[in-house]
Amino acid sequence: MCGIVGYVGHRPALDVVLGGLRRMEYRGYDSAGIAVLDGGELTVERKAGRLANLEAELDKVGRESITGTAGMGHTRWATHGAPIDRNSHPHRDASQRVAVVHNGIIENFAALRAELEADGVEMASDTDSETAAHLVARAYTEGDTKGDLAASVAAVCRRLEGAFTLVVTHADQPDTIVAARRSSPLVVGVGEGEHFVASDVAAFIEHTREAVELGQDQLVVITREGYEVTDFHGDAAQAKPFTVDWDLSAAEKGGHEYFMLKEIEEQPEALANTLRGHFESGRIILDEQRISDQDLRDVDKVFVVACGSAYHSGLVAKYAIEHWTRLPVEVELASEFRYRDPVLDRDTLVVAVSQSGETADTLEAVRHAREQKARVLAVCNTNGAQIPRESDAVLYTHAGPEIGVASTKAFLAQIAANYLVGLALAQARGTKYPDEVAREFAELEAMPAAVQKVLSTVDQVRDLGRRIADSKAILFLGRHVGFPVALEGALKLKELAYMHAEGFAAGELKHGPIALIEEGLPVVVVMPSPKGRAVLHSKLVSNISEIQARGARTIVIAEEGDETVRPFADELIEVPAVPTLLQPLVSTVPLQVLAAEIARARGYDVDKPRNLAKSVTVE
Ligand code: F6R
Repeated sequence: MCGIVGYVGHRPALDVVLGGLRRMEYRGYDSAGIAVLDGGELTVERKAGRLANLEAELDKVGRESITGTAGMGHTRWATHGAPIDRNSHPHRDASQRVAVVHNGIIENFAALRAELEADGVEMASDTDSETAAHLVARAYTEGDTKGDLAASVAAVCRRLEGAFTLVVTHADQPDTIVAARRSSPLVVGVGEGEHFVASDVAAFIEHTREAVELGQDQLVVITREGYEVTDFHGDAAQAKPFTVDWDLSAAEKGGHEYFMLKEIEEQPEALANTLRGHFESGRIILDEQRISDQDLRDVDKVFVVACGSAYHSGLVAKYAIEHWTRLPVEVELASEFRYRDPVLDRDTLVVAVSQSGETADTLEAVRHAREQKARVLAVCNTNGAQIPRESDAVLYTHAGPEIGVASTKAFLAQIAANYLVGLALAQARGTKYPDEVAREFAELEAMPAAVQKVLSTVDQVRDLGRRIADSKAILFLGRHVGFPVALEGALKLKELAYMHAEGFAAGELKHGPIALIEEGLPVVVVMPSPKGRAVLHSKLVSNISEIQARGARTIVIAEEGDETVRPFADELIEVPAVPTLLQPLVSTVPLQVLAAEIARARGYDVDKPRNLAKSVTVE
C-alpha cells in the first residue's frame, strides 16, 4: 500500500521519480506527488487521483523548470484522511524546507499531533504522515540532532509506533535522501553514480538490478556516491544485497492492453519458474530452511494462513497436503487467525502464503504463530519481504512481478508452491515413497504445458464475457478442489467487475443458495474430471440439471471430451484432462479471463480496481 521512490544521481530526478511511480501505481492510486531538490530549493507538486492527474499538473507548471537531480515521489492508498489534494504526499513542515513521504500507519499519531499542536504547529492535512515532517524539522533545528538529517530522522523513528517507511529530504541537504523502515518495505537500488530507494525494485529496475534489502528498524542515507545503513540509534547496520532476477520487460505491459492479461499469459512460465530447482537428487528442496529435517518430521498439524486469493490457494492445497501427508490441515483467513486463540505449539507448521510478503494480517499471523512457538514456512513472491524474513523456512514463488491488482499468475504459483510444501512434508514424514514424490513432481512439471493449452482457447471465454457483462450477478459452483476455484472466480469478478458474485460448494446449494436461482442468472460450474472422481462428477451433473431446470444459464468448465455434461451446459468451456488435484491450475484460468473481460466490457480499469491496492499493509 502506497508506493515510495527516492533518487539521488546524475539524471533529472523528476523523470526518474515519475518512471518509478508509474511502475508502482498498482500499490495505490488515490493520489500522487513528487518533491525535487535543486540547489537549496525544494519543489513539491501533488494531486489527488491517479498519477495522470499529477502529470497534467506538472505539464501546467512546466516540467522543464524542475531540473534537480535528487527527489522523491509517492503514490497513495489513503488510510488517514480522504483522498484529496491536501492529504496527498509529500507533506512538508511549516518552513517548507522538509518534505516527507510515508507508507504505513503511524499508530501514535494522535498523541504526536496533539503535542505538535500544543507547540503551535498548524497542521495542513488530516494525515498521520504529516506529523513526521514536523517532527523531523524540529529535530533538525534543535538539540544534538541539529543540522544532521539522518540523526533527526532516526530520532523521530524512535518515537513512532506502527508500521512505516519514510523518505525524507531537506532543502539544506540538496544531494541527500534519508529513508527508514519498520514493518513496511524499503529497498535500495545501487547504480553507477546514482542511488535509489523504493518500496519495490520495480521502481528502479530500468536503471539497475543491484539492490539492497533493508532490515527492520534500519535507516539508509543515499547520495550520488553511495549509501550508508544504520539502525535507529545511528550505529552501522548490515543490510542484505541481492540481484533482481527479472528485468524491465517483466514490469512493462509488453504490447498487452493491460497487465492482468499479460500476467494471465505468463502463467505457464510462472509455474515452471516456481517448480524449477525444487526437485534435485530425488528430493524436494525449499529455498531457505532454518528449521531442521527433524522438526519437519515432528510436525503434527498444519495451518495455512493467508488473505484473499492467497487464502484460496491454501484451500486448494489442503486437499493435496492432507492426502499426501495424512496431517490435519486447517486453512484460515490471516485476519481471523490470531484473534481466536488457535491451538499452536512447536509441532505445528504454519504456512503463510503471500504474494507481496507485506500483507499486515498475514504478517501478524506469522508473529502470533512464532510467539506460540509454532514453525512458520512462508510461500512468497517477493524476495526478502517481511513475511519471509520473519519465517523459519521460505519457498519463493517465482512468478515475477505482478502488477495487475487482481492476483493471477501469483495465485497459480502459490498453488504449485503449496503443493511443494506438501510433498516436502510427505518426504520428511515418509508418507510417500521417493518414487511417489518424484511422480507427483513430474505431474506438476507437466502443468505449464496444460495451462498453455487453456490459454489458446480464451477467445471463447472473452466472447462469453462480453455477452454476459450486463448480468446483475453471477454464481460459481464447485466441489472438492473445484470449490476454492469457485471462490476465486467469484472474488475475481467482484473485485474487477464490481458485480455481485458468490462461490458455493455445489453440495450446499440445496441448503439455501438455490433460492437465488432465477431465469437467466449465469451460474459457472467447475466440473471435476469424470475419470478422476466419478462420484463427484455425477453429483455435480445432478446439481447442474437442478439449476438449469430453474432457469439458470449454465456455464460449465469441464474436461475435454466430457460428453455427459454437454446437455446441461448452455456454454461449455473445455480444459485439458489433468490429475484431479491439479485441476485448479487449469480451471482457474478461464475464470480469470472471464472476470477481466466482463470488467473491460463494463468500462472499468482492469489493472486498478476501485478502492483496492496491491499490497494491504494495514489491518
Ligand atoms: C485478489 C488479490 C488479493 C490478495 C490478498 C493477499 O485478486 O489479489 O485478494 O490475494 O490481498 O495478498 P498477498 O498475497 O500479497 O498477501
